[in-house]
Amino acid sequence: MAKTLDVLKQRRSCRAFTNRPVEKEKMAAILEAGTYAPTGMGKQSPIIIVIKDPKVKETLRRMNAEIMGAKIDPFYGAPELVVVLANKERPTYIYDGSLVMGNMMNEAADLGLGSCWIHRAKEEFETEYGKSLLKRLGIEGDYEGIGHLVIGYPAKEPAQPVKRKENYIYEL
Ligand SMILES: Cc1cc2nc3c(=O)[nH]c(=O)nc-3n(C[C@H](O)[C@H](O)[C@H](O)COP(=O)(O)O)c2cc1C
Repeated sequence: MAKTLDVLKQRRSCRAFTNRPVEKEKMAAILEAGTYAPTGMGKQSPIIIVIKDPKVKETLRRMNAEIMGAKIDPFYGAPELVVVLANKERPTYIYDGSLVMGNMMNEAADLGLGSCWIHRAKEEFETEYGKSLLKRLGIEGDYEGIGHLVIGYPAKEPAQPVKRKENYIYEL
């Protein structure tokens, strides 16, 4: 297993994927990593939805592009799509959900997979369609979309990370 800092440094957002499917065990490990993210007061406010239904995937793809106002595939053709939402009841829900996203991205990198946070889940899940998906799963409560994670095998070498800015860390 790689050292944590090496994985963190090597993870890059991936925006081009091969069509090689992601092994079930690798997906399970990524999802499990998400569930081990710390959450405010340990209340585990987020939920993770793996989008398997091709129709739902296509609808979210279309909605996401529309919200963005761009005519691209916002999911970059990735074979796997996951959405993180978090329960607004908890004051830390956005932080909680963001850490779930981070854990999953880093686990994906450790497993040799590419991933990318795709935004606009908030807007998608504010729509009647988004709400109907939660209803379909029997999920009750006031959930806000935090982000989508697209996952797959990278089609090209990741770019080098940009230099970290000078004034990132202070000591007082
Ligand atoms: C909150 C958040 C939203 C993001 N939304 C998008 C997005 O919608 N589409 C996309 O291609 N990348 C998105 N990204 C990826 C960033 O562009 C990327 O993390 C950043 O450029 C740094 O590159 P790196 O991840 O390779 O270090 C998002 C990242 C974050 C943290």
